[in-house]
Amino acid sequence: MKELIFATNNRHKIQEVSALLEGVVNIRSLEEMGLAGDIPETADTLQGNALQKATWVWERTGKPCFADDTGLEVDALDGAPGVYSARYAGEHCTFDDNVNKLLNALEGKTNRRADFRTVICLIENGEHRFFEGRVDGQILTERYGKEGFGYDPIFMPDRFAVSFAEMPLDVKNRISHRGRAVAKLVEYLKK
Ligand code: IMP
Repeated sequence: MKELIFATNNRHKIQEVSALLEGVVNIRSLEEMGLAGDIPETADTLQGNALQKATWVWERTGKPCFADDTGLEVDALDGAPGVYSARYAGEHCTFDDNVNKLLNALEGKTNRRADFRTVICLIENGEHRFFEGRVDGQILTERYGKEGFGYDPIFMPDRFAVSFAEMPLDVKNRISHRGRAVAKLVEYLKK
């Protein structure tokens, strides 16, 4: 089976994406490839960051690889935190810090519409290709659930009455931004 290196140090993402790519490709982690260190993501678009992360691995291995970049875009905040979702509450902040900052920023606001958008960049033979996925929903007023990571406890996707953090992984994967982007990647890889 084909092998693809996933350019991430986030174990939650590896778990999510591995479940989706099972039987299609073998995922190799950075650790397995002996690649350590922080991958730079300094672009100001999701596409730019996904390309930057995948290129970092491609330049070091010359092997097929992909990266994803995700942003949470909140309507009442004009699309923030968007591409800055990881460092919303500061350079070395935690998921919890980010969630607290967002809950504070939306305090008293009635418009809580938001979406998650993921862009995946695949590099094979030095050529890159993008795949995008999106899910719409709203930001809850407090945390619900223990599953997942990041903003999952405060994001409730449309047509569901629970947060991403209250869903089993297979349900989140079926409807999420990353799940939808990976589905497009799978369709391409199967061709
Ligand atoms: P990244 O740059 O793609 O790692 O994503 C930016 C930030 O978005 C992460 O640090 C998380 O806080 C958040 N994020 C990414 N994917 C998800 C998700 O599936 N659920 C909740 N938060 C996410």
